[in-house]
Amino acid sequence: MKKLFLIFTALLIPCLLFSQNTKSGDDAKGIFKYENFQKPDECGSSCHTDFYAQWKQMMMSKCYTHEWDEIEYFKLAVPHAEKESKVAGVKAGCNGCHAPVSFMAGDVPPPKPNMNSRANESVSCDVCHSVTGFTGDTPYNFNFISNPGNVKYGNRESLNSPSHDVKKIDFLSKAEFCGTCHNEKSPFGAWVKATHLEWKDGPYSREGVQCQNCHMPRTPGISSAMGEFHQDVAQHLFHGAHDPGKVKGTIELRIHPEMEDAAPGEQLKFTVVLYNAKTGHKFPTGSAEERMLWLHVEAVDAKGNVFHLKVDKKGFPGEEFTISSDVLAYQDMGVPLGITDFKGIQRDGIPFGDRIFRMPYLDPVGRMTIQQWNTASFGVDYRIGPRETKTETFTWVVPDNIEIGKLKVKAVLNYQKLPLPVADYLGVPKDESEIIEVNFHQTFVEIVDD
Ligand code: HEC
Ligand code: HEC
Ligand code: HEC
Ligand code: HEC
Repeated sequence: MKKLFLIFTALLIPCLLFSQNTKSGDDAKGIFKYENFQKPDECGSSCHTDFYAQWKQMMMSKCYTHEWDEIEYFKLAVPHAEKESKVAGVKAGCNGCHAPVSFMAGDVPPPKPNMNSRANESVSCDVCHSVTGFTGDTPYNFNFISNPGNVKYGNRESLNSPSHDVKKIDFLSKAEFCGTCHNEKSPFGAWVKATHLEWKDGPYSREGVQCQNCHMPRTPGISSAMGEFHQDVAQHLFHGAHDPGKVKGTIELRIHPEMEDAAPGEQLKFTVVLYNAKTGHKFPTGSAEERMLWLHVEAVDAKGNVFHLKVDKKGFPGEEFTISSDVLAYQDMGVPLGITDFKGIQRDGIPFGDRIFRMPYLDPVGRMTIQQWNTASFGVDYRIGPRETKTETFTWVVPDNIEIGKLKVKAVLNYQKLPLPVADYLGVPKDESEIIEVNFHQTFVEIVDD
């Protein structure tokens, strides 16, 4: 009997191992059923009430339902995929990161958010806590391996949960885990999201600081109703671009004049130094095709007259993308919108002559695009890297109509998630293009009679 049992288990173990899923990315489409994944409210109703409440606030619980996501997917990506074979894969693929359970259940495109289907769960508890690893060397394009079931993968050993087993997995606590969705390669092979790759190239990875350290801060407490007390419970906050408090102060600013006084007709020069003190990746990162970060400098004379200072050109290739102007862009949107010879829309929607810290995404014919899936190459990368310092100068001839007396010169660094002209054109709610002041600094110059 004992022998039989041994033979039986010896046969069973490989069987069990074999039943582990190893498919990921595009190959994972339709390999599971919705029922394989628990609903987040089941996790949250009586056990993980606090984490559930935190999850409800974060963008990852809304990445299918958030209005701009809905507009971009249903108005642009789906029709584009139906018209151009090169990008056909995104019709399903967007959901690999934005509605992973629907993708793995093969329900693509999922019903629209107002249908209240399970796609609305977006990135749910069970999406993250069923991941056991990823395929290949580089995490990207949802190449995580999912093994949903009674075992939830977590960051601690030996926990006794009454409703499921818990297994510790180091991968969950590593940046690579996040990279499976926070790195994205377009159908043209361009890295249109590279938050993990930027981190990997930067100082924080060398110091062992993971994404989780900055986006899941630790506090003493319990992580479930019946859980043990720990000093360092990983909070599920995931603050990002949608949290002005996270964005504010990211860059430290200083402006200094070359001279302390000047007369009308004389030339003044100001230097602005910008230091990225807070992000573990570039700023902006992620959806960089639509993030605006710009430096605006104004002088106000003793009578309150306002003068706008334009940034000095440095002369590097592709610099024209980094100085705001009235050029039109985003012409490739005409394809999904069904407009032939679409002239495009205003590129920036901010005062002309301001410096923009960005990396332009270029469509297959080299025009700037907001459709990251239609990106074939990039222009100059003029974003601010982790702990990087950038310097800008503003040379200005003091005008004759200026008031004698104290001149205040103020440098403001502004941030916007989506350029206003694009938001207005597509009918995206205004809060997506609200302007957040990242930081400012001001200095004074005395205007004297010559
Ligand atoms: C985007 C992925 C993601 C989502 C969504 C997510 N978690 Fe987590 N969770 C993590 C990661 C990563 C850790 C481990 C953090 C670490 O070790 O640095 C974690 C840790 C935990 C822990 C252990 C915390 C501790 O420190 O003891 C619990 C419990 C937990 N999650 C429950 C939940 C529940 C419940 C939900 C849904 C309401 C949820 N998680 C949603 C990624 C996620
Ligand atoms: C299953 C895919 C997936 C995984 C895994 C994942 N994310 Fe996300 N994450 C997303 C998506 C999709 C969004 C976009 C939400 C939206 O539509 O704006 C997002 C948004 C975010 C945001 C908010 C950005 C904002 O605009 O405010 C932060 C911060 C974030 N993720 C951090 C992390 C970290 C840290 C990890 C690893 C512990 C992680 N994510 C793992 C898919 C994922
Ligand atoms: C040293 C702290 C730090 C580390 C490490 C870090 N971040 Fe961030 N992250 C920030 C700060 C600060 C912001 C807010 C400014 C911004 O939007 O870039 C941010 C913003 C974000 C955003 C929002 C970007 C957008 O425009 O929507 C995402 C997504 C994100 N981080 C993901 C990650 C991932 C994934 C990792 C690991 C590969 C990571 N972060 C590592 C500090 C950090
Ligand atoms: C590899 C994973 C992945 C894929 C595939 C993906 N996304 Fe995302 N998407 C993200 C992450 C992560 C973020 C947010 C992080 C950030 O902004 O830094 C995001 C952000 C967005 C945002 C911006 C949200 C905001 O508030 O600004 C939109 C809109 C969006 N995605 C739509 C799409 C569409 C449409 C597709 C398919 C063409 C798609 N995504 C494919 C991971 C993905």
